[in-house]
Amino acid sequence: MQLNLANAERKQIYSLLCGLIAPRPIAWITSLNAAGQLDAAPFSAFNYVGMDPPIVAVGIANKPGPGTMAKQTAQNIRSTGEFVVNVVNEAVAETMNFTAIDFPPEIKVLKIAALKTEPSLIVKVPRLAAAPASLECREVMTLEIGRNRIVLGQVVAIHVKDEFIDPTGHYIRAEELHAIGRMNGLGAYVKTRDAFYQIPRVTYADWQLESQKK
Ligand SMILES: Cc1cc2nc3c(=O)[nH]c(=O)nc-3n(C[C@H](O)[C@H](O)[C@H](O)COP(=O)(O)O)c2cc1C
Repeated sequence: MQLNLANAERKQIYSLLCGLIAPRPIAWITSLNAAGQLDAAPFSAFNYVGMDPPIVAVGIANKPGPGTMAKQTAQNIRSTGEFVVNVVNEAVAETMNFTAIDFPPEIKVLKIAALKTEPSLIVKVPRLAAAPASLECREVMTLEIGRNRIVLGQVVAIHVKDEFIDPTGHYIRAEELHAIGRMNGLGAYVKTRDAFYQIPRVTYADWQLESQKK
């Protein structure tokens, strides 16, 4: 199949991109509105995109429908300039999915989901106590492209539960974290339990040595 997107329906483009750009990590974002009410919602248009300084990007679509109403998370980030990315593993997957419900703003999703929070180190937005790790972020900028808001955030503090970090504090025990990823848009996820394998990185010098042997 080949498809010129100029002639494609939005729904088809979404399904194809979500199926092909997968698995995706899930940013379970906590954010505060101007009145101090806490919100939590998941976003899989998410990754780290820079290291010096450390930058993450999150794609937040506007709410469906004719107007240009931003989702609560995007509105909150714009008004406070802060958010926390909470990492999602198998243990919190169902609760994460529950927080994707498009509740009206007066409904307190964290209360219904019985989600407890812990204070952050630097930002005012609390982190989720049940998450295995959290990244405190400050908004660097938000790009508005069509019906998307693309938030670039600088990571200013990292929290990892002790059982998921090695004694040096440098390496995540990824095989024990049991992170999940999102696949296509139909409620499909992938587990990372017993899924690791290694491909050693080859340098140019290694490659030269190998090719001389041939
Ligand atoms: C696993 C998962 C990933 C999602 N990823 C995104 C995403 O990348 N961008 C987006 O706009 N919505 C995404 N959603 C939908 C939002 O979570 C949903 O619209 C939510 O109600 C937004 O909440 P808010 O209005 O409180 O910010 C995702 C939902 C799930 C379950």
